[in-house]
Amino acid sequence: YRSFLPPVTGRTRIYGILADPIYHVKTPEVMNALLKSKDVDAVLVPFHVKPDGLKELVDGLRRMENFGGFIATVPHKTDMLALCDEVTNAAHNIGAVNCVRREPDGRMVGAMLDGIGFVEALRVGGADPAGMRAYVAGAGGASSAIAFALAEAGVTHITIANRTVKRAVSLTERLKAAYPALTVATNAQRVADHALVVNGTSLGMRSGDEPPLDLSQLHRDQLVADAIMEPAMTPLLEAAKAKGCRIFPGKPMLESQIVLMAQHMGALA
Ligand code: ATR
Repeated sequence: YRSFLPPVTGRTRIYGILADPIYHVKTPEVMNALLKSKDVDAVLVPFHVKPDGLKELVDGLRRMENFGGFIATVPHKTDMLALCDEVTNAAHNIGAVNCVRREPDGRMVGAMLDGIGFVEALRVGGADPAGMRAYVAGAGGASSAIAFALAEAGVTHITIANRTVKRAVSLTERLKAAYPALTVATNAQRVADHALVVNGTSLGMRSGDEPPLDLSQLHRDQLVADAIMEPAMTPLLEAAKAKGCRIFPGKPMLESQIVLMAQHMGALA
């Protein structure tokens, strides 16, 4: 992919991705190809930083005048929230930041785009979640981001179903507080009663995983989405496809997010 890298000169703006470990991240290839295709004089490089070094690194980056911002991924998304000078509503509600813009004065402005990328991919696929009832399996980081983005996109109801009930209740309460007009239910709801069904758990990544929800309740009028990127076709999506549902795999959600991230960091208009 090296030929897709833009030439780096003294004028090139620098962006980063912060992670630990770092070797597996695909974002540099994807983002640099995007920047190059848009003729933007900028480059995104991997920054390997451990959790106990995050604050010092971020403070240093405040002073780097040709630095435009960074993407934060595992395990830094939660810690980044407190290190930002300003965060979006979504980041505040979810309690995590995955993309940061460095303002010219060194202030760091954080956003959480995981869930927004998910909704954007639904829209690109021709499905607007506004007015729908949504069933979200899981109550962890991915599910929280998706649930808040769905609420923002105008779903009328969200069911949060999670193995650990305490976590489901916590997410439910946070959703209700932020979106008073939304109805929110926890666990033990019929999957069949929801137009949009989403897996935000890690179930389906490994072969032999149990299904994240009751597959027998899927029916052809439903949209079924999976946040898992690898494998592209999870058992949930296979089952949904067999029933005639419209399905939405996780990969395009990441692709939608790359553009949103470039925009938030100010690399793309
Ligand atoms: P992420 O940031 O990827 O969302 P996470 O916050 O650790 O990761 O959340 C993982 C989600 O998958 C949680 O909803 C988790 O359920 P618990 O809150 O009960 O742990 C869910 N999950 C993972 N393994 C599971 C399993 N074997 N059975 C049911 N749910 C599982």
